[in-house]
Amino acid sequence: MKKTVLITGISKGLGKALALEFQKKGFQIAGISRTKPDFEIDFFYPADITVKEEREKSFSQIIEKCGNLDVLINNAGIGYYEAWEKVNETDLKKTFDLDFFSLVWMTQLSLPYLKKTKGTIINISSVAGKTVLPYMGPYSAVKSAVNYFSDSLRIELKNKGVKVLNVCPGRIKTGFGERVLGSRNTTPSTPFKADSSVFAEKCFKAYQKNRRELIFPAWYRFFIGFTKIFTQWYEKISLKKWNKDELN
Ligand SMILES: NC(=O)c1ccc[n+]([C@@H]2O[C@H](COP(=O)([O-])OP(=O)(O)OC[C@H]3O[C@@H](n4cnc5c(N)ncnc54)[C@H](OP(=O)(O)O)[C@@H]3O)[C@@H](O)[C@H]2O)c1
Repeated sequence: MKKTVLITGISKGLGKALALEFQKKGFQIAGISRTKPDFEIDFFYPADITVKEEREKSFSQIIEKCGNLDVLINNAGIGYYEAWEKVNETDLKKTFDLDFFSLVWMTQLSLPYLKKTKGTIINISSVAGKTVLPYMGPYSAVKSAVNYFSDSLRIELKNKGVKVLNVCPGRIKTGFGERVLGSRNTTPSTPFKADSSVFAEKCFKAYQKNRRELIFPAWYRFFIGFTKIFTQWYEKISLKKWNKDELN
């Protein structure tokens, strides 16, 4: 019997890349997003996962069709780049509803099935949750919540046989940037944007090896380390690089 992976935010970007990678590895693919993917998967249900009724209905329909669940990938997410002084309630709520709360509720729905299969939860967080960048505070806040959710959940589920892999991508080529909320949607330039199919391959390998965390591309580990060790220097550089006037 084929193993089943359920991916949220399957229609495009990293969700699509992950679906294609797991498909290549022989998995049965189930997915949820608001719009239909433009590629073939086994089971798709359109739903806004921030809406309780839609989330629960799509989940139960998928379980009914698939019968089992081996991997849940909590991938759907949106960015919010704004100065804290200008953050508004609607956009901050939208960000936390999708990037954090829907991920917690999807996990709760999946757990009875994942416990049976001794499966895996893969949470797609971000490098932004490991360090801070000016004007990306709301996004860093929500993704650091995801990191702590993953790390505490992993301990709680250890004796129940369910694994938790927390994935922190850096910038990857998808349309994510075009959909970011907020007036500061001009992220700092990085040397390059990684390829989504390479990301998906690394993710699959990390899943196979039962790893607890993946930071991709790997060089972001040095960036994160640098910001933690040389914090004052990093703050000075940030001040120079990202709009001196506004930060003063
Ligand atoms: N790309 C990057 O550089 C990058 C870096 C770090 C972390 N990440 C994280 O990686 C994840 C995927 O990002 P991406 O680059 O693939 O972004 P993306 O191209 O914007 O794709 C986001 C996916 O989420 C779905 N989605 C959005 N709102 C939804 C809702 N309310 N209900 C259900 N599905 C919803 C979208 O489908 P519909 O519009 O059809 O609903 C789409 O499939 C996110 O959690 C993001 O924070 C991305």
